[in-house]
Amino acid sequence: APAPGGGKGALTFKPIPPNRLDALIVPNGYDWSVVAKWGDPILPGAPEFDIDSQSVRAQEGQFGYNNDWLVVLPLDRQRNRALLVVNHEYTNEILMFRDYVDGAPTRDQVRIALAAHGLSVVELERQGSTGEWAVIDRGRRPYNRRITGTTPMRFTGPAAGSSLLRTAADRKGTTVLGCLNNCAGGITPWGTVLSGEENFNQYFVGGDGVPADDKPALARYGISTTTRYPSGSRRWETAEERFDLAKHPHEANRFGWVVEVDPYDPKSTPRKHTALGRFKHEGATSVVAPDSRVALYMGDDERFDYMYKFVTEKKLRRGNSRSDREHNMSLLESGTLFVAKLAFSSASEIDGSGRLPADGAFNGTGRWIPLARGGQSLVDGMSIDEVLVHTRLAADRVGATKMDRPEDIEPNPRTGKIYVALTNNTNRGGTNPADEANPRNANKHGHILEITEDGGNHAGETFTWTLPIVCGDPNDPSTYFAGYDKSKVSPISCPDNLDFDAHGNLWISTDGNALTDHTGATFNDGLFAVPLEGPERGHVKQFLSVPIGAEQASAYVLDDNRSVVVSVQHPGEITGATVDNPASTWPDGDFARPGVAIAWRLDGREIGA
Ligand code: FEO
Ligand code: CA
Ligand code: CA
Ligand code: CA
Repeated sequence: APAPGGGKGALTFKPIPPNRLDALIVPNGYDWSVVAKWGDPILPGAPEFDIDSQSVRAQEGQFGYNNDWLVVLPLDRQRNRALLVVNHEYTNEILMFRDYVDGAPTRDQVRIALAAHGLSVVELERQGSTGEWAVIDRGRRPYNRRITGTTPMRFTGPAAGSSLLRTAADRKGTTVLGCLNNCAGGITPWGTVLSGEENFNQYFVGGDGVPADDKPALARYGISTTTRYPSGSRRWETAEERFDLAKHPHEANRFGWVVEVDPYDPKSTPRKHTALGRFKHEGATSVVAPDSRVALYMGDDERFDYMYKFVTEKKLRRGNSRSDREHNMSLLESGTLFVAKLAFSSASEIDGSGRLPADGAFNGTGRWIPLARGGQSLVDGMSIDEVLVHTRLAADRVGATKMDRPEDIEPNPRTGKIYVALTNNTNRGGTNPADEANPRNANKHGHILEITEDGGNHAGETFTWTLPIVCGDPNDPSTYFAGYDKSKVSPISCPDNLDFDAHGNLWISTDGNALTDHTGATFNDGLFAVPLEGPERGHVKQFLSVPIGAEQASAYVLDDNRSVVVSVQHPGEITGATVDNPASTWPDGDFARPGVAIAWRLDGREIGA
């Protein structure tokens, strides 16, 4: 029988409870398996993983570390083969090497870590008649690929060749080795993936030794300009000199970009698109505007940072010819870069407690403020190169709205509304007090922002917004679930990555669950699903949880709605844990290995239904 508020796409699964198990937990009637995990050989000749005999060469052919955002792209019309594309955000050497000494890596360890960054492309095949998929013929698939921290990439757009991007190794400022800290991502209408470089600051030292002119921008991106080796430095410069800014002051400017990768062409050179600006990029998710230009939505995940939009100058071509594709492949090289500035409907009523205003909504209007258009700066006192390379400084100047860690931004394919995961911001308050869009001081649990572009025009400059969900324990009066009966919703904390199923239900992955059990121990992260339209709007239910210490970094619901692929990132990442003293033994019972898993329904029907 259909559930209350049922019909096609209703989420009738029985939610799982918050828990602290060292396991991947799915609802009754579902099963799961590991698709790929750190060290699995994916290229010809790559050896089976052996934690005691790792090498650069092996890792370059094996699945990378700390899988983050992922997507599954079709390979055949029958939908039995597909490509899994995965970001590998960062490495945690203490959980990778038995003999790792903090702050004193060996040359080999640095190079293995560089090889464990980047992306993996792996071919999958459907198993039987359910929603289960698995990697096939390991090491023999033509599309399988590793992109790493040393793969050559090309800059495009107005800042390519800029003096701000030039280094001793690249005197033209047009090519860079590798991508780092690739966190979230998105897909384009022409079948490529966009992967965002986030916390690139952590790889660099020597910021105290750069010319004075370079210091303000480095500092704005979280690089110390007073201390040569800030605490926790990886010391990668001991193996690769380019990570020492005192010697190569512009190398950090070559990270923090959106990288476009064509997974259907394993020989293609990844491109870093300067037109999209440089910040701590999460994803870049696309919508085709009514006039056929393409809009990308992008978050900068830092406390008090901003939400951005890029609109292409040229229109998408919908044909499949070679010239159509070539045209589309150039779309991200020119356009307009905007940053969001919000206005508030009930500003005077906001006291930082999360109490709802008298009009019954956290809501308001907003404008997309253009920073650069057609290769020209629109920011007084900044050149086009400065706007694109030091985009945070440009956005500061135009008074963009400071948000509570804007992570993933995702368009709802059914309604065109845009959703932003605002993970948390415990520093909200004081000189940066709560506002209607970030309504709680010391915001531990985060919230979701919904943006509706005026006239449904994704290329436009004005919008309205509201907060459908303010996260936390539903018993906490500062939470809000679109007015839904709080006794029926799952506790949720720290929304991070977003995805939509075929029916327009939002799937929310969490990072850093701050909710605790009666002993004060935090519950594991998880995956939650929630309808956004109709009477069930706000009915959050927990679908899955990940092992101890892990982040549920990303989820992707396959097009036929019968499977969800999840990224189990940094299992066992607990202070004091090591390879031999693991806090998690997921998935194999020995030491912790990050991995991608897939969940499906035993009866083969749609997930969540
Ligand atoms: Fe890598 Fe913002 O999470
Ligand atoms: Ca993330
Ligand atoms: Ca209001
Ligand atoms: Ca997403």
